[in-house]
Amino acid sequence: MKITQASNVLLLAGLASSCLLPEERAGGSIRRSLNRRQGNSGKAIGKGDRFNSGNSFPRGIGSGNATDMTTILTVSEVTTGLQGLVKEYGIETFTTPYKTYEGRTITGAKVGGSGAYHIYLNGAIHARERGSHDSVLYFISDLLYAQKHGTGLTYGKKTYTNADVLKALSTGIVVTPLINPDGVNYDQTTNSCWRKNRNPKSSNGNANSIGIDLNRNFDFAWDPKKWASSVANEVASSSPSSEVYRGTAAFSEPETQNMKYILDTYTKVRWFIDLHSYAGDVLYSWGSDTDQTTQPYKNFLNSTYDSIRGITSDSTTTRYGEYISAEDLNNIKTAGTRFGNAMSTSTGRTYTVMQSAYLYPTSGASDDYAFSRHVADPTKNKVYSYTVEFGFGNNQASCPFYPTDAQYTSNLQETNAGFIEFLLAAADIGLE
Ligand SMILES: *[C@@H]1O[C@H](CO)[C@@H](O)[C@H](O)[C@H]1NC(C)=O
Ligand SMILES: *[C@@H]1O[C@H](CO)[C@@H](O)[C@H](O)[C@H]1NC(C)=O
Ligand SMILES: [Zn+2]
Repeated sequence: MKITQASNVLLLAGLASSCLLPEERAGGSIRRSLNRRQGNSGKAIGKGDRFNSGNSFPRGIGSGNATDMTTILTVSEVTTGLQGLVKEYGIETFTTPYKTYEGRTITGAKVGGSGAYHIYLNGAIHARERGSHDSVLYFISDLLYAQKHGTGLTYGKKTYTNADVLKALSTGIVVTPLINPDGVNYDQTTNSCWRKNRNPKSSNGNANSIGIDLNRNFDFAWDPKKWASSVANEVASSSPSSEVYRGTAAFSEPETQNMKYILDTYTKVRWFIDLHSYAGDVLYSWGSDTDQTTQPYKNFLNSTYDSIRGITSDSTTTRYGEYISAEDLNNIKTAGTRFGNAMSTSTGRTYTVMQSAYLYPTSGASDDYAFSRHVADPTKNKVYSYTVEFGFGNNQASCPFYPTDAQYTSNLQETNAGFIEFLLAAADIGLE
């Protein structure tokens, strides 16, 4: 369904009243008030190491006999879980080059493919969005188990055959399940509903001003001067205390540098997912302004439009809309729709597939950066990119991003069904 401006306004109103705000597009003040809500902390965080230093391996919920999922995976369990997958399945892992402020490294893995990697899945860029890294790690665990044992995978009402599994794996997948380990560790040990990283360099000694919103730090129209003055401080904030603080420069942070490194290193990546919660949305490009397919010169690079970029209510013909070719728009919507429909079918909860900018325009987001690379530099691969927001929030918790036990399981079923459907869609539409 194509969302019109009118239905978009209604949608926004509905979301706002039920607190199911699409958090990627929401400004800092809303988040602050959510942070103060009293209540429980949702599903508990793990203690110890269920993967026994890599001597046992994760099993997802799609292949039967899943890992004990009574608690959420810790930061270190993502690494030991990946080590377990190396031992069981012989996959390759890697460490990204830029250490976080607290000195952590990020472990990634490569699965499937035949030398080339066409998919990049990233998790947990926002610390409090619990279940994100679990979804990515358990998903690749399921694929690998099903490949080795010749089985299919089942996520609620969605069932995939072994042939589907092999086709999905043939795309070649690079994963970084947990890109923001300092933030996740802090959130898990304090239950503070923490979103950003933990870099204090702009905080001036104020604990409330620690951290950069990593999903406003990418080099896509990062500079507030690229935006209409009415939205320049909404697409991201220059205030360190804001939940959407953009940082001191594009790619000022090691976590975003690590994601750039992956896109620079795996040059064949064609499809990218950044996994967030919560809004029940699959969001596709662009996130800057309304998509238009007829005026290629209206794009984020063209400074002629800096003063009117980011106003989605104006005409794309006489004013500004972000250019995407009709073919690209069709491809990106087709795969996004399959992703969202699989999520919805798995559990019966309804996901919405829509353009990112229909809600709040943003600057410096990972999905826009990934898709913009080939526009800014035609020698780079085109990367169809998405922000997926699993789940619908927990209004009983101190932080609505913290799932209950039941929500955690539903979220996992939805994301994992969505992932495999998305890989199949990517294989159908094209990997080169
Ligand atoms: C699950 O574990 C039980 C008991 O060990 C075993 O009988 C069964 O075959 C296993 N199922 C799968 C799908 O691995
Ligand atoms: C930027 O937009 C202006 C106004 O439409 C146009 O004349 C110019 O050619 C564009 N620049 C580029 C590099 O496309
Ligand atoms: Zn997020």
